[in-house]
Amino acid sequence: TIFTVAVIVGSLRKDSLNRKMARALVELAPPALRFEFVEVGGLPLYNQDLDDEGTPPAAWADFRKTIKGVDALLFLTPEYNRSMPATIKNALDVGSRPYGSSVWNGKPAAVVSVSPGNIGGFGANHHLRQSLVFLNMPPLQQPEAYIGGADKLFGPDGALTDASMREFGAKFMNAFAGWVATNVKR
Ligand code: FNR
Repeated sequence: TIFTVAVIVGSLRKDSLNRKMARALVELAPPALRFEFVEVGGLPLYNQDLDDEGTPPAAWADFRKTIKGVDALLFLTPEYNRSMPATIKNALDVGSRPYGSSVWNGKPAAVVSVSPGNIGGFGANHHLRQSLVFLNMPPLQQPEAYIGGADKLFGPDGALTDASMREFGAKFMNAFAGWVATNVKR
């Protein structure tokens, strides 16, 4: 069975370490997972009036439809001031509404936090996981992925060159594939 996974990267900058890690993880994943990068930088900030008045922005509607159509989610989050960036929080908020029709409901997920700092985005990772728990998205429990010192893991072409991190990435994605297979609802 093939499972589809939306990859959401919380950084918008072109040299993003999170995006490089996302690309590496996709490449290291087992063939049962099919990935689609879903961009969240263009989503207007959530405003409930637009749903209540029946005029949700097209970008919200497209995003909700895309997420509805996948089996699982992989989040790559930078840490901004010890939490997740607004890009990811806004995407969660947009997908969670209108009330009672959250597109996240029941979809298994995994969180990877990536930082040049040495605590690996722990704060962002945990805040994001807590929102996933509330949204009824079973988050992969083990292994955890707090990727610190991430400015030293990639070559000049953006490829993941660190051997032990490649090994960890493959192990993580295998565990995620198992998690998706066990928890997916279709
Ligand atoms: C940061 N950065 C950061 N790093 C960290 O480990 N903990 C933190 O709380 C913060 N806070 C923070 C706030 C803001 C507004 C910015 C722009 C940056 C540094 C951050 O980890 C670094 O810029 C990463 O490179 C961001 O990830 P990408 O863009 O490389 O994917």
